[in-house]
Amino acid sequence: MIKRIIFGALILLVLILAALFIYVQTSWNKVYDLAGPSLEVSNDSAVIAKGKYLVHGPAHCSSCHVASYEDMILSDQGEDIPLKGGVKFPLGPLGSIYPPNLTPDPESGIGRYTDEQLFRMMRHAIKPDGTGSLALMMPFWDMADEDQVAIISYLRSLPPIRNEVPDPEWTFMGKAVRTFAPTFKPVLDPNPPSKAPPMAPTVERGKYLAHSVANCVGCHTERDQMTYEAIGPEFAGGMEFEPFPQLYKILGVDEDVWMRAPNITPDANGVLVNYPTVESWITRFRQGRIINFSPMDWGPFSRMSDEDLEAIWLYLQSLDPVEHDVGPLIFKK
Ligand code: HEC
Ligand code: HEC
Repeated sequence: MIKRIIFGALILLVLILAALFIYVQTSWNKVYDLAGPSLEVSNDSAVIAKGKYLVHGPAHCSSCHVASYEDMILSDQGEDIPLKGGVKFPLGPLGSIYPPNLTPDPESGIGRYTDEQLFRMMRHAIKPDGTGSLALMMPFWDMADEDQVAIISYLRSLPPIRNEVPDPEWTFMGKAVRTFAPTFKPVLDPNPPSKAPPMAPTVERGKYLAHSVANCVGCHTERDQMTYEAIGPEFAGGMEFEPFPQLYKILGVDEDVWMRAPNITPDANGVLVNYPTVESWITRFRQGRIINFSPMDWGPFSRMSDEDLEAIWLYLQSLDPVEHDVGPLIFKK
């Protein structure tokens, strides 16, 4: 009797696993049939200049869409490195992804795509080929229409560079996470304004930048290591960043060093207390990175305008303090 029950349970388990396997294999790279917003790119030099500011500043596209770790370091330092993509982003047990070529090359870059495909990527985290991406990595869904137009107009104005970028590589675990984790699903109901709050030191502008452009909220919120889902209050810090071995090698950093994002709410345990005045805050950002292997996009943020930096400071100061002592920012497991 007992034997039979165990045997039956085993069969059931095998069937469940097989069904799960088939489900993941057929769903992980689902193609979404959703139209992108109908926005129009522009040749206007003021629009293109604004796009350049966003791409190399607050929206920090230039941190990721480069060809190598060496270029990533130079780009952070402010060199005008071509956005031809290709550097490898390891996602631990999930696999690896590669930021694609954003120059207008017609064979390997965004010259292959319609404006609608590009705006759909920005607004819904659906790649030009229709598959989903990791929305949190490019959390621009609520970026204003006018800023998205500026960014795509700037990218369209760049010289085309031919560079074939590898397709993403997902392990079975990566495919399973993509199948089930909401963070890997497209953003179907964004709520963007048509105009961005004007560049001025206001809480409203700061909130817009911190949430929808500069992604301060993405990194400064504690997240699950596997799915990146938020598991702590916004801006209260605690997200852990795994080592980036190939980059660390170039920088001469121990390969088992982890980082943690600090609490940037106005709590006594947070880092905001170190910046009691706008001047001290702007001075810190102009300095750029101090910890050479920090994942924070210090270079692009150091190139933000005084108004934008002040706006973010005002917004963070306006938050309720969250008591959350995240512990040491640099640690080993
Ligand atoms: C944190 C790194 C990061 C930042 C910042 C970033 N991207 Fe990306 N981007 C990626 C990665 C990685 C992919 C590939 C995603 C995938 O394969 O699922 C991607 C994909 C894309 C694609 C799809 C291209 C294709 O050929 O499939 C576009 C378009 C794009 N990014 C534009 C931008 C723009 C514009 C910005 C700035 C406003 C930006 N990205 C900022 C990492 C980044
Ligand atoms: C890609 C992840 C990431 C993003 C995006 C990010 N941060 Fe950070 N931030 C970190 C990490 C990790 C640290 C700790 C290491 C360091 O200081 O560089 C940090 C440190 C800080 C510090 C303390 C620095 C010091 O020297 O006192 C402040 C302040 C800060 N971040 C504010 C911001 C603001 C404001 C934004 C948005 C404009 C932002 N961060 C975006 C990951 C990030």
